[in-house]
Amino acid sequence: MQKAKVGVLGSGDVGRVLAGGFLSLGHEVKIGSRDPEKLKGWLAEAGHCASAGTFAEAAAFGDLLVLATLGSGAQSAIELAGKENFDGKVLIDATNPLDFSTGAPRLYVGHTDSLGEQVQRWLPNARVVKAFNTVGNAHMIQPEFPGGPPDMFLAGNDDDAKKIVAQVCQHFGWGVVDLGGIEASRHLEPMCMVWVIHGIRSGSWNHAFKLLRK
Ligand SMILES: NC(=O)c1ccc[n+]([C@@H]2O[C@H](COP(=O)([O-])OP(=O)(O)OC[C@H]3O[C@@H](n4cnc5c(N)ncnc54)[C@H](OP(=O)(O)O)[C@@H]3O)[C@@H](O)[C@H]2O)c1
Repeated sequence: MQKAKVGVLGSGDVGRVLAGGFLSLGHEVKIGSRDPEKLKGWLAEAGHCASAGTFAEAAAFGDLLVLATLGSGAQSAIELAGKENFDGKVLIDATNPLDFSTGAPRLYVGHTDSLGEQVQRWLPNARVVKAFNTVGNAHMIQPEFPGGPPDMFLAGNDDDAKKIVAQVCQHFGWGVVDLGGIEASRHLEPMCMVWVIHGIRSGSWNHAFKLLRK
């Protein structure tokens, strides 16, 4: 993948970790937040290819965009970013539609729809690819497991966009499994729950999915 400008919408762990992954590969990154001031500490460590701004500034900056907001904040973040700033661009959607209101997380959309499909509907001119939602942020970049590289599962309607995201995943140390159109997010978002439930039950967060083939 050629050197790119990457706009990351989301100042949380996922936004920062994925931003760090892109920076480690020599890309330029701008992280967006409603409050860019909160990224001062991160910026001090992130090097000269990193910057921070509003959601709109990050979305305008990137040729390649990442959505890494709280699931229930995704629509608002997109509105704040300006829908025109996504036109024609590849958007990696790492979000999950998690509802924490009753304590343990659960999905607030699913089965016949998904947050990935909603994001694609809100941004019909963007090339949305669901990815990075099925693993914890600690293992998103260069995951090291005794069984070899785990697999990142992708879904999206645009094959060229998926090729670009597959390359990103491979550069970040992942195998890749393409599950087809964005509607496969209906299955990828529940996979996040499998990852979380196993973490809660085992008391360990050092796991990732791999598709075994023969
Ligand atoms: N944590 C993980 O390991 C992990 C792994 C896989 C997938 N995910 C998914 O990745 C996404 C990001 O997770 P995270 O743990 O990094 O952080 P998070 O706390 O879920 O999200 C933080 C980001 O969401 C934005 N946000 C929250 N409410 C908003 C609203 N109403 N309007 C606009 N923006 C809003 C925040 O904006 P400000 O910057 O303005 O505060 C911040 O940038 C989530 O959807 C999560 O389910 C998380």
